[in-house]
Amino acid sequence: MTFQRSRELFERANGMVAGGISSQIRRAERPVPLFFKGGKGSRMWDVDGNEYVDYVQGMGPNIFGHAPDFIVDAVREDIGNGFCLAGQSEQELEVTELIRAAVPLKGLVRYASSGTEIDQLVLRVARGFTGRSKWVKFEGHYHGWTDTVLYSVHPPLSEAGPVDAPNAVGESLGMAPGSADDIIIAPWNDLSALEAVFQANPDDIACVMMEPIMGNTNCIVADDGYLAGALDLCEKYGALLVFDEVITGFRVAHGGAQEFTGVVPHLATYGKSVAGGFPLSVLIGLPEIMEKVGTGEIMHGGSFNSNVMVMSAAKASLSHIAKNPEGFYNDLNAQGLKLMQGLNDAAEQAGVPMLVQGLGSTFWTTFTEKKSIRDYREHAANVDGEKYAVFAEQMLTRGIRLATNSRWHMSSAHGDEDIAQTLEAARESLKAMAG
Ligand SMILES: Cc1ncc(COP(=O)(O)O)c(C=O)c1O
Repeated sequence: MTFQRSRELFERANGMVAGGISSQIRRAERPVPLFFKGGKGSRMWDVDGNEYVDYVQGMGPNIFGHAPDFIVDAVREDIGNGFCLAGQSEQELEVTELIRAAVPLKGLVRYASSGTEIDQLVLRVARGFTGRSKWVKFEGHYHGWTDTVLYSVHPPLSEAGPVDAPNAVGESLGMAPGSADDIIIAPWNDLSALEAVFQANPDDIACVMMEPIMGNTNCIVADDGYLAGALDLCEKYGALLVFDEVITGFRVAHGGAQEFTGVVPHLATYGKSVAGGFPLSVLIGLPEIMEKVGTGEIMHGGSFNSNVMVMSAAKASLSHIAKNPEGFYNDLNAQGLKLMQGLNDAAEQAGVPMLVQGLGSTFWTTFTEKKSIRDYREHAANVDGEKYAVFAEQMLTRGIRLATNSRWHMSSAHGDEDIAQTLEAARESLKAMAG
């Protein structure tokens, strides 16, 4: 397998695109950040003519795989009506009805284009509604790349501070110095630590924001009772609970993590899978909270919000799932679980300690002696990131494309043949690594 053309294009890109890539996570792809001709279903083709079974799937959005015909057809039909209308359409309401029918949190919505953007809005809403400014963020969770939230996602342990009172570690140069002032960093999956945070700041916390399933670190499902306990604490202290369902929404179940865990927060954000790969993000909040957004007291705008293309794609996606949600998610999860089991077996056979953790629809593979990982610090202290990078490169050269951050994304396009090919590649890759 050669990557010659990708190498040439990457070199050309480096002269005019910073780092040669447009989102930092892409830079880590080995042996070179790839250039693609395109993708269809579970497969992608790069500019050297190599074919891959793709588990990156746009970092999650492509829940039906690449370019499903029913979305392509819908968008093709609607796009002739205009792109950005800066006005409402009936389609926007149909999408909203489909979302409200799926999501347990029954509230009012607002639309934007990215997860980063909608997570900014939710923080503003929480502050605007409560009149408080502090918020609780957990180590290992990611809520986008802006100054207000890009703290302690994956901080070096040497800078992370005491486990029960972690430092807010900024993850970029150039962040506004005051942007950490209102953030309280806490360890996730530890109810007494969260209670201590509230006891120390009983009247100051606007919201607790979390990935209800930790998609950005080892795909950790919280211990029984943790999410419900967090909700109780928020209610006791007059704070709002926010679920960032940008990964989990319309992926882990029709009703996302809320359906999966049975816990319904006050506010929730969605992105990635909601429009089958088109850039749509959604905020849903209890009506009494969202009222101030409706009046404009809490300002929200956006030229691209609810544009023709994303609403067309969202309607096609959500209608497709709504035909048989149970069947859709059962199949997606079953395929993922089959793959997870096969990967586990392959690692065992090769004698390589690899942890396959998560849910069928999304999961992580990490190289560690641990049998499970339940919080960020355990991950940071025990996971060998370099080994994963080697594994991902081994898999790539065998026609399987994995995300650089260890997270796998199943799509409904992944079939038995894809899984068999992936497991064969995994057996060979792990054998090569063991050797
Ligand atoms: C949980 C979570 N929230 C927010 C974001 C930001 O979304 P976007 O990349 O669309 O800005 C991401 C992106 O990976 C995410 O995983």
